[in-house]
Amino acid sequence: MLLEVTGLSKRFGGLVAVSKLDLSIREGEIRGIIGPNGSGKSTLFNLISGVYQAEPGGRIVFAGEDITGYPSHEIARRGIARTFQLLRIFTQMSVLENLLIGYHPHVRYGSAAATLGSASVWTEERRLKDEMMELLGFIGLTDYAEIPAGELSIGQRRLLALGRAMAMRPKLLMLDEPAAGLSPVNVDKLLSTVLALKQRYGLTVVIIEHILKVVMESCDTVTVLEHGEKIAEGAPAAIKDDHRVIEAYLGKEMGDAEVRAFLKAS
Ligand SMILES: Nc1ncnc2c1ncn2[C@@H]1O[C@H](COP(=O)(O)OP(=O)(O)OP(=O)(O)O)[C@@H](O)[C@H]1O
Ligand SMILES: [Mg+2]
Repeated sequence: MLLEVTGLSKRFGGLVAVSKLDLSIREGEIRGIIGPNGSGKSTLFNLISGVYQAEPGGRIVFAGEDITGYPSHEIARRGIARTFQLLRIFTQMSVLENLLIGYHPHVRYGSAAATLGSASVWTEERRLKDEMMELLGFIGLTDYAEIPAGELSIGQRRLLALGRAMAMRPKLLMLDEPAAGLSPVNVDKLLSTVLALKQRYGLTVVIIEHILKVVMESCDTVTVLEHGEKIAEGAPAAIKDDHRVIEAYLGKEMGDAEVRAFLKAS
């Protein structure tokens, strides 16, 4: 397993946002995480990426290393990148500068490289630029490199957020509702970009998503959370028939039409 989470919990005062959760992610898979609002999906990402610390007893093992309690930059350096539900795009900075922020944990031409002389700095910069241009190509923003990110459309901003996470050269990419607010065409575009990136860089992907079409069409396995607990897990086709999953959705945010669409989705 690339990621092995066991007994993970997180409380906020009296509220248990994530409760004794076990989660195993196989290398190369695309895992969907679904569940009603407030079921703990984003908190789970915040725990894995080190934004929050888990309660004692929880354990997170990534690529064979116990990373429990590591600060977020150490976790990022080991190859876990994530996007945020609310985009953290720097609107005044250019698209390229936004991408460069993602590279931060890997930039090596610090004091050591500087003392080695300018050649290695130049090589590093050259390599970085090439990598960046390739990434810009993948997210379809090559022509926008120098434009302030604030001028991008919502669809382009979502692609930029994806690119910035990719700039960290992750092994595991965690996307928190990457397609929220997008038109169907842009949802498809984002999804095909994720799949292309996965192919190119051999990624493992975990996607939190409310758009069930996305989950049903692109995930190998789906994990369903409710009140911070895992209530179901399995292939998309099996999950959609699970009565606990249907109840969790029926009782909460989904309207009748959405539930019917969910049940029909294959
Ligand atoms: N920093 C925080 N402080 C206090 N409570 C929090 C905090 N973050 C999350 N919560 C609470 O924990 C629970 C789980 O929240 P979380 O954001 O993980 O849910 P979610 O499944 O991502 O929901 P959504 O689908 O709305 O994004 C919610 O009740 C939420 O209000
Ligand atoms: Mg959330």
